[in-house]
Amino acid sequence: MTDPIRSGSDPRKAPAARRAVEVFTRAYGMPPRFVVRSPGRVNLIGEHTDYNDGLCLPVAVDLELCLAVAPWPPAPGSAEPGPAEPGSVSPAGRGLRDRRVEVVSEHRGEPAVVRLPPPVPPPPGPPRRAPGAQQGWAGYVEGAVVMTAAAAAAQTGDAAQTGDAAGRGGAADLCGWRGAVASDLPLGAGLSSSAALELAVARACAEVWELGWEPVEAARLAQRAENAWVGAPTGLLDQLACAAAAAGHALLIDFRDLTTSPVPMPDGVVVAIVDTGTRRELVTSAYGERRADCERAAAGLGVRSLRDLDDALPADAAGRLDPVALRRARHVVTENGRVEALADALRRGDLPAAGAVLLAGHESIRDDFDVSGPELDAAVDACRSAPGCHGARMTGGGFAGCVVALVDARHGERFTGAVLRDYRSRTGRPGAVHLCAPVAGTSLLRL
Ligand code: GLA
Repeated sequence: MTDPIRSGSDPRKAPAARRAVEVFTRAYGMPPRFVVRSPGRVNLIGEHTDYNDGLCLPVAVDLELCLAVAPWPPAPGSAEPGPAEPGSVSPAGRGLRDRRVEVVSEHRGEPAVVRLPPPVPPPPGPPRRAPGAQQGWAGYVEGAVVMTAAAAAAQTGDAAQTGDAAGRGGAADLCGWRGAVASDLPLGAGLSSSAALELAVARACAEVWELGWEPVEAARLAQRAENAWVGAPTGLLDQLACAAAAAGHALLIDFRDLTTSPVPMPDGVVVAIVDTGTRRELVTSAYGERRADCERAAAGLGVRSLRDLDDALPADAAGRLDPVALRRARHVVTENGRVEALADALRRGDLPAAGAVLLAGHESIRDDFDVSGPELDAAVDACRSAPGCHGARMTGGGFAGCVVALVDARHGERFTGAVLRDYRSRTGRPGAVHLCAPVAGTSLLRL
């Protein structure tokens, strides 16, 4: 049975980095050369604003995905792979000569395998699953390899962009690598486990292929993997938060020009994540419909994006928009204002004001944007009446997943116990609470 009470740095469980090293060593019979740490993110406020050129205020949290890596075949002179343990996922020594990226996971039997050179990315166009893209988590690994290889080819002016007759890129001399993933991020809970995986794979490629690493570019590349390879029509929030966050800070992002500024988290507050245990696949959700509603609203109001309305809807908006588009636009416009209000409140250390912004944000996303759900609403209500809670709201794409709350650090454990009891009595479901600290974005640890 899983423990429902878990802080980001749970002393009862080996850290993800150590587990990734162990999985790697067991699978490949030698130690890895480096570990990429890739955090999940929770969005404090600024929901469904990223694809409207708006503002967001996420934090990267110490629930992380770690990827242990070694170039493959191992460099001459490095320790030769030993025999793999019986039952290991990928026997070391298998196909040392074939160039590929192979990633095993602590949770999955089959490794993700991408043959090198990888396929070329599809031409620019609307988000759509690439023909031939692998299913499941392997598709995210593959998408990140494909996009990083294309960036590598572009950097070297490689004619590879055209690809060969088999549709493979010509970044002919890319070296293969092997990796092992361990993660504390719940899957599909709206904490960006997929962005964390994409960025970890991209960071590993960048290290092995000796490319530069710039967080905003890396985030864009990971978003292309999501949009043009996996086919999920997401904005850039998750990838940019995971890539560019600063320890101890939330990250204020302006999606009009992709500028970021760290906002210090006040002392004495913890970021509590309440996982409702409900899940919804983003690819198949109403996310695309919400995007289309926003585009219709912008067109009806004669602006390129809803951000161009600045801080208010025009007085005649109700006459120019259908009722749904009007509510979507009202959420986006007021949400941008709440991002600025929350950033100000955090800078001032005014936690009651910060909490009030979260609660107003929940009402807007529930009533105007229609992406909350009964369990998310129940979890917000449970948080509101728990000790030490300044405020709470649903977080992420919506419909299912998690609620975020700002909680007085002195009350963390009491808050946790009260929320779990109350949430269960309201819904009959077990929830989970993670008390998290804000950490830095994707980083590399050489061993
Ligand atoms: C998902 C998407 C993000 C963003 C949020 C909603 O997490 O991946 O781009 O749109 O939903 O704020």
